[in-house]
Amino acid sequence: MTSFDLQQTQTELQDKNPRIILRKALENFDNIAISFSGAEDVVLIDMAINIRKDVQVFTLDTGRLHSETYRFIEKVRKHYQIDIDVLSPNRELLDRFVKEKGLFSFYEDGHQECCGIRKVEPLKHKLAQLDAWITGQRKDQSQDTRADLPEVQTDTAFSAPGKELIKFNPLTNWTSAKVWDYIEAYQVPYNELHEKGFTSIGCEPCTRPILPNQHERSGRWWWEAGHKECGLHATNLKES
Ligand code: ADX
Ligand code: SF4
Repeated sequence: MTSFDLQQTQTELQDKNPRIILRKALENFDNIAISFSGAEDVVLIDMAINIRKDVQVFTLDTGRLHSETYRFIEKVRKHYQIDIDVLSPNRELLDRFVKEKGLFSFYEDGHQECCGIRKVEPLKHKLAQLDAWITGQRKDQSQDTRADLPEVQTDTAFSAPGKELIKFNPLTNWTSAKVWDYIEAYQVPYNELHEKGFTSIGCEPCTRPILPNQHERSGRWWWEAGHKECGLHATNLKES
């Protein structure tokens, strides 16, 4: 890694398109990975592969994804001929949680605990091994928590004492329409759930299709009021 000036890089990347942001991220960091959710953030892989063929990609397998998403992850692996690091939750934590609370406790006492075990803890473990990561978040996904999402930032939620973790959000300036235009133009493979009314895709029990003109994240944790964030991007909450 060359020395990295966050402030200067952010100024340089302000309002830039995803390719420029991705290139900068991959030029500055060797030990960097794309966090792929199995949804339309596949465009990051499509772009990154042309910059660095062996780009690191990981996905958090919560154990509760739709079968369509598992099939899609496999399709992406084969299509781009890349390794995808499929991360599982910590067995002991998960066993204890499921034994105590069953498989659907999130409908009763909120999604934070389950997301904490199935997503956040494995992410934390992975990020401890990286210098920087790349997400598919966009400003237009949430007025509430992502409206000010920068192109690059310090990940205050997952940095460790003495080790600053950098987070790039190359799609932040793109709308959903732009992402889908790219998918169509470049014949990028996509999750078949998108053809079934799903706009934002998460775990099967916590995601439902939306009606026309509903906001794209309204199908996530629909039974809950408040922030539609699960802890992967806790930085958004602290800075909002
Ligand atoms: S979430 O916080 O609500 O779950 P969202 O679905 O909007 O996140 O996805 C935003 C970005 O977070 C994705 O583009 C991806 O970078 C990362 N992400 C979300 N879910 C996962 C997952 N299961 N595995 C890896 N990365 C994920
Ligand atoms: Fe658990 Fe739902 Fe969070 Fe998935 S989205 S980890 S099933 S609470």
